[in-house]
Amino acid sequence: MAVRQVITWGDPRLKNKNLDVEDWTPELDQLVADMFETLSAHEGAGLAAPQVGINIRLAVIDVSGGADPAQKIVLINPEIIREEGEQIGEEGCLSIPGVSEVLKRPMKVCVKSRKPDGAWEELEAEELQARAFCHEIDHLRGRLFVEHLGPVKRDIIQRKYQKQRRD
Ligand code: NI
Repeated sequence: MAVRQVITWGDPRLKNKNLDVEDWTPELDQLVADMFETLSAHEGAGLAAPQVGINIRLAVIDVSGGADPAQKIVLINPEIIREEGEQIGEEGCLSIPGVSEVLKRPMKVCVKSRKPDGAWEELEAEELQARAFCHEIDHLRGRLFVEHLGPVKRDIIQRKYQKQRRD
């Protein structure tokens, strides 16, 4: 396993179209293992393949920060099929280090996701895990969490972020 480099806001690969995963290969097993390693190294809750420069519809989630193997979830070609309620809370992204903003998300989601063997499963999540599902599925559509904010607020955050990166 290896920690991969996480690309950051402004890198065009975060905005590229992400392709559906077709055949499962040993390279994808390796990628998933590396993504969990990368996630735990950065103490994040989720990581999408485009964030390590690979434009496919794959993401990993672990809201336990590596503490509980049962919390490790791999999303493959995921789609949100139901959402319920709302939660308002702070959100951040490994591709936008140093930035966190309060964002509204559904309290519960149900996601349809493929398994490596090609079968489909439905995964239910709530609270922090539901937030992570939504955030990662956004990445797979080329969308960053700051794009949920209004244009004025996003602009202020972007300028502050760019200045901080230069300094
Ligand atoms: Ni993110």
